[in-house]
Amino acid sequence: MPKVTFLPEGKSAEVHRGSSILDAAEQAGVELAHNCGGVAACTTCHVWIEAGLDSLSEIEDREDDKLNEAAGLAPNSRLGCQACVADEDVVVRIPGNRIAS
Ligand code: FES
Repeated sequence: MPKVTFLPEGKSAEVHRGSSILDAAEQAGVELAHNCGGVAACTTCHVWIEAGLDSLSEIEDREDDKLNEAAGLAPNSRLGCQACVADEDVVVRIPGNRIAS
């Protein structure tokens, strides 16, 4: 199972293929905001993918539209509720102002 590691804390979880980054955060005990409940209607789950970006699920139009509203948008930005892992390990950085644990 692929491992998803969250920075800066360094907590991680091994998750099933197809799990979202948000699912992985919950499994790892990492607080990742998800104000819309995970339906790509906000940007609170915005994360930067530091490793494994190419292995994640494709960005759908709805995610792409919302991402454009995210503070700190970068080429490695994804919405945690929409990006799903495949077989490779992934390293995720949560923007610092939203870390609650
Ligand atoms: Fe709202 Fe991911 S939780 S877009």
